[in-house]
Amino acid sequence: MITLKGIKKSFYNGKKKVEVLKGIDLYVAKGEKIAIVGPSGSGKTTLLNLVGGLDKPDEGVLLWGDKPIDFQNEEVLTQYRKSQIGFIFQFYHLMPELTVFENVILPGLMAGWRRNDCYQRGEELLRRLNLFDKASSKIYVLSGGERQKVAIARALFLKPQLLLADEPTGNLDTDSAKEVIKLILELNQMHNLTLMLVTHNMSLAQKMDKIYLLKEGFIVEYNHSHTEEITS
Ligand SMILES: Nc1ncnc2c1ncn2[C@@H]1O[C@H](COP(=O)(O)OP(=O)(O)OP(=O)(O)O)[C@@H](O)[C@H]1O
Ligand SMILES: [Mg+2]
Repeated sequence: MITLKGIKKSFYNGKKKVEVLKGIDLYVAKGEKIAIVGPSGSGKTTLLNLVGGLDKPDEGVLLWGDKPIDFQNEEVLTQYRKSQIGFIFQFYHLMPELTVFENVILPGLMAGWRRNDCYQRGEELLRRLNLFDKASSKIYVLSGGERQKVAIARALFLKPQLLLADEPTGNLDTDSAKEVIKLILELNQMHNLTLMLVTHNMSLAQKMDKIYLLKEGFIVEYNHSHTEEITS
């Protein structure tokens, strides 16, 4: 479903060039679920941003199916982001002053859906996530786990093919983390949703089909039996 070939990305820290991704090759099949692990600052979020069309690579190609993504064409890129990708950000990126419901339906409103369709889809998702009783609550009164679920609902709103999740359990206690993991796995099973998760949570990583380690600019597949080495 998605193929990365020779992806490179650098940033400038003042005048100093920092090469974050030095040539990433990766293939993720439809319905596959993968985890990306690696030290802080290794470029995990950078990589997800590229796959999600939120940033442009300096070099290399990204194929969606067999079609290269044209990073120069803003219109195509926006369409790709909206129609194919659900993004769960590392720090939620919710609108604190809006209600749960408003946050969830925002992608629909921005995509020009009719209000009634937005309401229907919003209700369906919140019920599914057991969060409908909080629909009219403001984000700032919610717990971390509840916020994470709102972020998931919003990411799923437009029925993406690929879910990108950056530390989906990073800010959660064990119980909320378990619940969120269960939910993400169900989505993968029921809707054949392809998953790319960045996580430090090894029990989550081990539930994926494959684990990749991102380190020093390159990515390598990691055998499940080696996972202890990653955490240490
Ligand atoms: N927009 C940017 N401008 C400058 N430097 C950046 C930018 N985005 C990321 N970086 C740098 O690139 C490197 C990789 O950052 P990234 O956020 O991808 O790491 P990460 O693996 O997600 O880390 P963490 O586990 O802490 O979330 C870091 O050194 C960071 O400072
Ligand atoms: Mg990150």
